[in-house]
Amino acid sequence: MKAETPAKVPRHIAIIMDGNGRWARERGWPRLKGHEQGAHSVERACEACIAEGVEFLTLYAFSTENWKRPAHEVSGLMLLLERFLAEKVAMMNEHGVRLATIGRTADLPAPVRKRLERAIAGTAHNAKLTLTLALNYGGRDEIVDAVRSIAREVQEGRIPPDSISAEMLSGNLYTAGMPDPDLLIRTSGEMRLSNFLLWQLSYTEIHVTQRLWPDFGAADLRAAIADFQSRDRRYGGAAENPVASQLPAA
Ligand code: FPP
Repeated sequence: MKAETPAKVPRHIAIIMDGNGRWARERGWPRLKGHEQGAHSVERACEACIAEGVEFLTLYAFSTENWKRPAHEVSGLMLLLERFLAEKVAMMNEHGVRLATIGRTADLPAPVRKRLERAIAGTAHNAKLTLTLALNYGGRDEIVDAVRSIAREVQEGRIPPDSISAEMLSGNLYTAGMPDPDLLIRTSGEMRLSNFLLWQLSYTEIHVTQRLWPDFGAADLRAAIADFQSRDRRYGGAAENPVASQLPAA
């Protein structure tokens, strides 16, 4: 009897964590309460990814557009982040989580930057799961930054323009060295990319759940992975043997 190939676990999952505000509003609570609960979901998502064998988890924690929110919400989010970084390094080390960031983090408040540096250095030896927080992140800015650094190399005569390739561009993104996400999850039902990982999501499977981020848990992650496993990833090519796959099993 032919053994069934085990279903592929996505190596890299990216999540647009949405719905914190709605979760709080449903309860008549301030929006920051929703973000606070959302921070608990971050920890649960890390644990669930490790349990499922996912190697990379990338979370959209603060976009370049999020500065437009009311000042008290922005400062509340920054404080929450600071607290998370101060309190969760032990948990990260216990579970083998290495912290990384993408985005223009130099523009974050100094206390957040300091905590980030410490948490990144303090978890650098871990190898089970790379947790990447997208902070002050914008997908278009990321591409602009990559193009600028390649343009400088051209200007300095180190590379000819014709040697610029998709691989070179990938290698100049904030995510250099990381595999592209296999699966993108967006919570709270919105069907948008919202300027997240625009280049890297080219061939990513998308799973949208109605679940609001503060309620997102291990079962939701498993459901998203099961959905991913039901997809036929063709990267623009044809199915391996479309005719054979339509024949009844012998
Ligand atoms: C979107 O919900 C969420 C954010 C803009 C921030 C994400 C932040 C967290 C999950 C908490 C802190 C993160 C870490 C890493 C500790 P929304 O406010 O847009 O929700 P809404 O669409 O319902 O208003």
